[in-house]
Amino acid sequence: MRLALLTSGGDSPGMNAAIRAVVRQADALGVGILGVRRGFEGLIEGDWRDLRSRDCANILQRGGTILHTARCREWLDPAVRAKAHGALRAEGVQGLVIIGGDGSFRGAQALWEEHGMPCAGIPGTIDNDLPGTDLTLGFDTALNTAVEAIDRIRDTASSHERLFLVEVMGRHSGMIAVHTALACGAEAVLYPESESDHYEALLANLQASWARGKKASIIVVAEGDRLGSAYVVGERLRKEHNLDLRVVVLGHIQRGGSPSAMDRIWGSRWGAEAVRRLAAGSGAFYLGRLNGDLVAQPMEALLGPPPVPPAFLGELVPILSR
Ligand code: F6P
Repeated sequence: MRLALLTSGGDSPGMNAAIRAVVRQADALGVGILGVRRGFEGLIEGDWRDLRSRDCANILQRGGTILHTARCREWLDPAVRAKAHGALRAEGVQGLVIIGGDGSFRGAQALWEEHGMPCAGIPGTIDNDLPGTDLTLGFDTALNTAVEAIDRIRDTASSHERLFLVEVMGRHSGMIAVHTALACGAEAVLYPESESDHYEALLANLQASWARGKKASIIVVAEGDRLGSAYVVGERLRKEHNLDLRVVVLGHIQRGGSPSAMDRIWGSRWGAEAVRRLAAGSGAFYLGRLNGDLVAQPMEALLGPPPVPPAFLGELVPILSR
């Protein structure tokens, strides 16, 4: 048997752990792995090579993806997919392992629906926003990176008795923002799924905290918040309340770095499981973790609502920063 393997969409720490596990589990089963570079772009261009166990030496602890990754609009064209499928078949490929987010999984699902190519998805995105799993690869590392960065910002915020707005990633999801805010004792968090009128709530929380004698504050802002970026919110606060505040955008440092133990472990488990299931004849599915257990979902589960940060966590942030 021969399987193709690719990483797609935004990279996330732990992708290399998953690649290593796919290749080595396949090796152990006598299955060949064709490593595709640059996601679907590489599938279209035939940019691939065989991967063996020794090609994955010393990558477990490395961030990024040795296969490189891309977001590929061309893949939306059925004719492009048909051509790529023909090329894969010509290489003797009987299944695809894809490490990425929901958009990437949909790209793989199309190969299954149109051409019957079995596909295994490994959830790889720092956003932790896939239905059917309570963890995605890279979330734990990104969270720890953001918390470590904000701990440093807290030092200077305290020294200068300043307000900081710190923007974290999450174009459509507040998962990183809410968990980071809780873990670093932020005074407030702004995130897209929050139900409250959060500008008013934010002001009320800040004023209450200043009235209690707190001089330094940190507001964590999700990149995709409805009020706008941290710069936009900061500008509004500055104008309306004449505040001497600072804005920090953590940006892509959250996507890099050595994966946490948690991301290495789940990358390894999911990688091995993906190969085992494809070798046993599974169709199109993606892996996840629910209540601590490894689970597999049919690709259709992607249609379900994405997970949102539990409201009580967001509400806890101002209570615990009193
Ligand atoms: O999907 C992961 C993610 O990191 C989002 O949180 C963020 O909005 C986006 O990728 C950034 O993408 P890019 O690297 O293309 O700017």
